[in-house]
Amino acid sequence: MSRPPVRVAVLISGTGSNMRALVEGGGDAYAVALVLSNRAEAPGLAWASERGIPTIAIPHAPYGKDRQAHEAAIDEALRDHDIQVVALAGYMRVLTPWLVGRWSGRMLNIHPSLLPKYPGLDTHRRALEAGDAEAGCTVHLVSEGVDEGPILNQARVPVMADDTPETLAARVLEAEHRLYPQALAAFCAGL
Ligand code: GRF
Repeated sequence: MSRPPVRVAVLISGTGSNMRALVEGGGDAYAVALVLSNRAEAPGLAWASERGIPTIAIPHAPYGKDRQAHEAAIDEALRDHDIQVVALAGYMRVLTPWLVGRWSGRMLNIHPSLLPKYPGLDTHRRALEAGDAEAGCTVHLVSEGVDEGPILNQARVPVMADDTPETLAARVLEAEHRLYPQALAAFCAGL
């Protein structure tokens, strides 16, 4: 007997191009059941809403320095929507150990480098400065350390001689859009 697709929430802060790829890549293994953002103006929210996907904005500013209170509101929304797996997709807030612990083994992230190389920001400039011949992206489980959790999948792209951080970022982003839906589907199928 086949089971219903795993209910996934995608957390975004900005453009949400990976979120769009995840929505379009849904199928038997998973369905995007919620798009949540810490920025009400994130363009991805309107895109998802137009497609009938529930969306929620939970801005962090009203919570001031109380990160855990902001995360408690996020956690409540995830549970209200019967979410089983969380996919971070350009969510630009560092999570506290509290939320990470609540979703341990059920929260994925995509990072634009071949981890463990270049955790954090500015990955493409750092890859170019190091003279790397290839770059890429990583889907990993979220753990307490930033960009440190167990690696699930990676995709590689070549670095070209005339690359700038922008041209390399665009090539890696295309690879992200292929990798993340595949990785998420494989992960959900294995739950
Ligand atoms: C992607 O490069 C992702 O790897 C990183 O943030 C970027 C988000 O882009 N974590 P988008 O919002 O999915 O277009």
